[in-house]
Amino acid sequence: MKVPLLDLRPPLEELRDEIVDAVTQVIDSTRYIMGPEIDGLEKEIAEYCGTEDAVGVSSGTDALLLSLMVLDVGPGDFVLTSNFSFFATAGVVARLNATPVFVEIDPETFNIDPEQLKMTLSEMDEENRNRAKAIIPVHLYGQCADMAEINKIAEQFDIPVIEDCAQAIGAECEVDGIKKRAGSLGDFGCFSFFPSKNLGGIGDGGIVTVNNSELAELLRLKRVHGGERKYYHRVIGGNFRLDPIQAAVIRIKLPNLNGWHRQRQENAKNYNRLFAEAGLAGKVQTPQVRLPFHLQECFLHLGGKKGDFLVSETAAKEVLALPIYPGMTIEMQETVVEQIAEFHLS
Ligand SMILES: Cc1ncc(COP(=O)(O)O)c(C=O)c1O
Repeated sequence: MKVPLLDLRPPLEELRDEIVDAVTQVIDSTRYIMGPEIDGLEKEIAEYCGTEDAVGVSSGTDALLLSLMVLDVGPGDFVLTSNFSFFATAGVVARLNATPVFVEIDPETFNIDPEQLKMTLSEMDEENRNRAKAIIPVHLYGQCADMAEINKIAEQFDIPVIEDCAQAIGAECEVDGIKKRAGSLGDFGCFSFFPSKNLGGIGDGGIVTVNNSELAELLRLKRVHGGERKYYHRVIGGNFRLDPIQAAVIRIKLPNLNGWHRQRQENAKNYNRLFAEAGLAGKVQTPQVRLPFHLQECFLHLGGKKGDFLVSETAAKEVLALPIYPGMTIEMQETVVEQIAEFHLS
């Protein structure tokens, strides 16, 4: 049996008619830029994440870029981030001619290690510390970074936090005894609606969540070239608008998201059981080339070399993404585990 890493069809089939109707309505409305679908989705995502507001944007990458632009990050500034993530997290920093400062990850969660973050900031002299304009923790593989600790450090050094939530919509984290969702824990929450994400559109899309009306206003302003009204530009921005067709599709999918999460969690439990039954518990290791940031060619000028970040280098060599999508059958999962067992035990 061939098992794809991801199959987008099962959730699509579940909602096909509703999705086609919603897309048709946008087409027939002739409102192709902004409009009610964007407003509606922004309200619904803010409510889902437990934030005051949300601002739809063109992609997860642009969600990060726009948040940095709202903080006026530019040449000479530092942005501290995890050394192990999808390229966009560090790419957006470099694109603004600021310098990413990579921080080692926790070996258990693969998320930024708060101890290392604190150490990096403590070891900077005052001049460099004043250049640190943002911290971007990444909630990798659907698991929140240790936001309680990260927020403490951010407060101590007075640096804003941009959560990279592209892989973690709906993930929960306990801060001060209260369970909160990803995107409501820092100053900005950046989400991706890339089709393969847990809440994916039928093209690119993203959203930024915020708990501060001034930040929301600036996000909205910079989303449209900084244009407050026609032909008047107070600040520089870009075209970071979300497409209403994507918003319409995502609005249809959103009420099903928690159910799909439960299916993924069920699949994860099945894997744990099947790995244990196959004698692979705690042993599964497969080679996969995914470089950590400090060894990417475009960041070599920052002086990184092999051995500088051992935890992320090891993670990059050993991490294997398993298919876990909703709609996967137990037989498919058994096939995956059999293949891994064959590779590992033979
Ligand atoms: C951790 C992380 N950050 C940022 C992004 C960028 O999102 P997008 O592909 O929507 O630009 C992604 C996804 O691709 C991601 O996984």
